[in-house]
Amino acid sequence: MLITIPDVLTPEQVAHARRLFDAAEWVDGKGTTGYQAAKTKDNMQLPDSSPAAREVGDMILQALGKGPLFMAAALPLRILPPMFNRYSGGQSFGTHVDNAIRQVPGTPLRIRTDLSATLFFAAPDEYDGGELCVEDLYGIKKVKLPPGHMVLYPSTSLHHVTPVTRGTRLCSFFWLQSMIRDNGQRSLLFDLDVSIQRLGGQLAGNPVAEQTAVQLTGVYHNLLRQWAEM
Ligand code: NI
Repeated sequence: MLITIPDVLTPEQVAHARRLFDAAEWVDGKGTTGYQAAKTKDNMQLPDSSPAAREVGDMILQALGKGPLFMAAALPLRILPPMFNRYSGGQSFGTHVDNAIRQVPGTPLRIRTDLSATLFFAAPDEYDGGELCVEDLYGIKKVKLPPGHMVLYPSTSLHHVTPVTRGTRLCSFFWLQSMIRDNGQRSLLFDLDVSIQRLGGQLAGNPVAEQTAVQLTGVYHNLLRQWAEM
């Protein structure tokens, strides 16, 4: 399941981040990937130690912590510090699956990558190509979002980034371990959560519906209790 999360960052935050990116030092992206993926990876990244990466990364994590849609969709347990990449002049990243386990930089902590996230910083009309193409059960989904918007997709998916033939594509990407490892179970919980929220807006003065909503909320939490890993 692919989920788009709009307006994670405000236009002001995006503009601030882009000023930091312009002044930052970018390095070859091959450094942070496995041997096989490195063969098809052609982009630039901010190093982990980059002050710009840290500042904008914190900004993203703080924004996500306040976002109910992200929390409901991801049910995050641990989130890796956001990373940043830049594609221009025909650069691309061929089809690959992200590494299953990643170490949190500077710590002994390892996380299982259940969900991958890409947050866009450049407007779609600023560059040609640069679509994130994610293969799921129903085919290939092409994603190219307005600045400040983010997509979440299962890290089990094969994906690639098409060549950027004009302009520059700027994105943040990161991974998270979810409390719910299984994509199907996580999708069910998300659907149930969204349905309960929708129902909640329609209940005024209807005691049977109110009782039903309480019961469904109980089902949600009891499923979460059964399935969650911490
Ligand atoms: Ni990837």
